[in-house]
Amino acid sequence: MNRQVVLASVAVAGILVGLAAAFGIQRFLAPPVSETGSRFERGRATAVKMGCFLCHGPDGRAGTANFLPELDEVPSWSQGNFATYVKSADEVREWILDGAPKRMLADPDEKRRISQQLIKMPGYRKQLTSAELEDLVFYVTAAGLLYPFDENSPEGRGRAVVLRLGCYGCHGAEGRGRAPNKGSLKGYIPSWDSSDWNELVENPQELREWVLDGAPKRLRTNPAANFFLTTQMVTMPSYQGHLDDKELDDLVTYVQFVRTRR
Ligand code: HEC
Ligand code: HEC
Repeated sequence: MNRQVVLASVAVAGILVGLAAAFGIQRFLAPPVSETGSRFERGRATAVKMGCFLCHGPDGRAGTANFLPELDEVPSWSQGNFATYVKSADEVREWILDGAPKRMLADPDEKRRISQQLIKMPGYRKQLTSAELEDLVFYVTAAGLLYPFDENSPEGRGRAVVLRLGCYGCHGAEGRGRAPNKGSLKGYIPSWDSSDWNELVENPQELREWVLDGAPKRLRTNPAANFFLTTQMVTMPSYQGHLDDKELDDLVTYVQFVRTRR
């Protein structure tokens, strides 16, 4: 082999190693959703693929106009609509499989009402694998905040605090979202049910510090972590003064409860 060929080979090998390293670091900083994806994220990806948001609006929050036969709208996946349309999590599954729950399909008046709608809910029985279906049911019930709480339990009260303070805006329904966030440590806002949590929240005291101060002392005093905390486009607000000790206790109980359901 002549000298030029050897040099060229070494240069090409060097470039390849460099690219591999850069790609590896990039993937470490912002791994693709499919690798870190929670059940919630997998369910949402299936909802995108199946076109659910075309009719039910982004994250199922705002249905499009419909005629049934008078002007109305496709129901959103909100708690209010769930009371009318969905009696249990099993009925979410039935809606998805057959475009309506068994209860409605067995009632001639309901069947007539359904057939008169301009936009009808499709049945996805033949389109979904059983794993996709279960992820989708989990996603729809979480997105619609359907999980039934006793409003007087610490978890139920904690969820009311979270709703009042607007945490879901950045963290997604039940804190299970994973919104992109430019300039942040991971490239996204980690969900409360992810494994990223273990690095960011080592114990309940740190969860309190996130809420009160927008980050725990441990990360604030770590120069590398603090760099990302201060340069990311969206930063976690400090809620000090906006909730009392009891509300903070309930919030912590609720957030920890979310992590037990994944
Ligand atoms: C073509 C429009 C359309 C698409 C696409 C669609 N839906 Fe629906 N969906 C409807 C309509 C219309 C209703 C109300 C039916 C009724 O009133 O009987 C409905 C009702 C529902 C309900 C019960 C009511 C509520 O909102 O709580 C659920 C749950 C639901 N859809 C989930 C889904 C999911 C999950 C997907 C995707 C897999 C999906 N839908 C795709 C139109 C659609
Ligand atoms: C304006 C957007 C925004 C709001 C509103 C918000 N957060 Fe955050 N939150 C963030 C960002 C950004 C991070 C930092 C993520 C990072 O450092 O990578 C974060 C981090 C966290 C963390 C660390 C662990 C994790 O999974 O992200 C917790 C816990 C948390 N927030 C809880 C809350 C609670 C509880 C509320 C409501 C009281 C709330 N957040 C409201 C943006 C927000």
